[in-house]
Amino acid sequence: MNRWIYFIVLQIIIALVIAGIVYKHEDKAVIVKTPPKTLAKWYKPENKRQVWLHNMFKLRREMQAVTFYAEQEDNQHLQKWAQSLGEHYLKIAEMVPSWDNKLDKTTLSNLMASVAEQNYSKALTAVNSLQDSCDSCHDDYQALTALTYRTPDFSKIEITPDLNFNSHMKTLITQVNQIKIASEDGMTDLALASLGDLKQGMDELGKVCTDCHKKDKKPYPNQQMNNTLISLESSLKTGTLKEQGRDLGTLAVLACARCHGTHRIASGAKNLLTREQSLAELLKH
Ligand code: HEC
Ligand code: HEC
Ligand code: HEC
Repeated sequence: MNRWIYFIVLQIIIALVIAGIVYKHEDKAVIVKTPPKTLAKWYKPENKRQVWLHNMFKLRREMQAVTFYAEQEDNQHLQKWAQSLGEHYLKIAEMVPSWDNKLDKTTLSNLMASVAEQNYSKALTAVNSLQDSCDSCHDDYQALTALTYRTPDFSKIEITPDLNFNSHMKTLITQVNQIKIASEDGMTDLALASLGDLKQGMDELGKVCTDCHKKDKKPYPNQQMNNTLISLESSLKTGTLKEQGRDLGTLAVLACARCHGTHRIASGAKNLLTREQSLAELLKH
């Protein structure tokens, strides 16, 4: 009889543990396919040019030209474009050997054969099937490849040799909030001093923009931000609480949120998806 009680208690414990595990996984994990690391060779900074991406642009153009000339039944031009389509399609596997099995070489041969035979309708059918092989690889890898190899990386950016990017961000938000707190509590001097610090911090941040924005000069702070800084300073001195709040809000949108909309979201997604997970971390999940 006792053994049955042990057995039932054991069953209940097991059931609870399973329920606990299932409950903990309420926030579902997503499985994504990460692109092969060999791709890095075909992107900056390992390469001088975005070779992979440019091969893709060529393929799209060649697919369009082949379709167009097959419809026109213009054999001379069709030959020319089909030739380079074949070349650049096969280049995919030359660049990333592990993707050789993603290529539909049978369809490519069919396309080449029908072009040689001047069988235009067969050529059009083959182009359509080839497009399926483009789509299937894109479904799995396109978005994550762009995110991995084309999202600017801020993790290595330094404001000065002993001030990393993230610490500077934390300083900036502390200053923004200190202005808000001091304004609300009527401590004008403190608010103005923090505004001075924030301005200085923004100037320092602005120096790193040109690391990457060389041609399209992105002055930071720009004219609009400077005007808002001036307006905020005068409302902190003589304005109402409402005016102070409005100016500070405008400043935060212009000077922080705009850039976050591009850089922080992309960089956060990249860091999350491309970080190497240790086995211990995976087991913990
Ligand atoms: C084995 C995988 C693979 C195959 C097959 C493939 N692609 Fe791609 N393609 C990619 C990846 C990965 C990207 C993302 C590159 C990036 O954004 O940096 C891409 C991006 C592109 C882009 C850029 C889209 C944009 O505007 O940013 C075009 C255009 C393109 N591919 C065309 C083609 C065509 C046309 C074919 C078929 C003839 C093809 N690709 C076959 C992997 C593939
Ligand atoms: C690590 C490189 C890098 C740094 C540093 C960098 N950017 Fe960018 N930024 C890029 C790239 C790449 C793009 C996307 C392509 C483009 O539009 O030039 C971009 C796009 C943007 C965009 C959106 C597109 C546009 O032109 O409006 C804004 C806004 C922007 N950056 C602001 C800034 C500001 C402000 C700084 C400095 C505080 C900065 N960036 C620093 C690489 C960088
Ligand atoms: C280059 C454009 C850019 C501008 C301008 C910018 N930020 Fe950021 N900020 C980023 C990026 C990118 C990250 C994420 C860094 C990372 O993930 O490594 C970030 C992260 C942050 C963080 C989180 C830091 C952490 O790790 O806890 C805060 C807080 C922040 N920014 C505040 C601000 C404030 C306040 C301003 C305006 C005064 C501002 N940022 C202006 C790009 C910018």
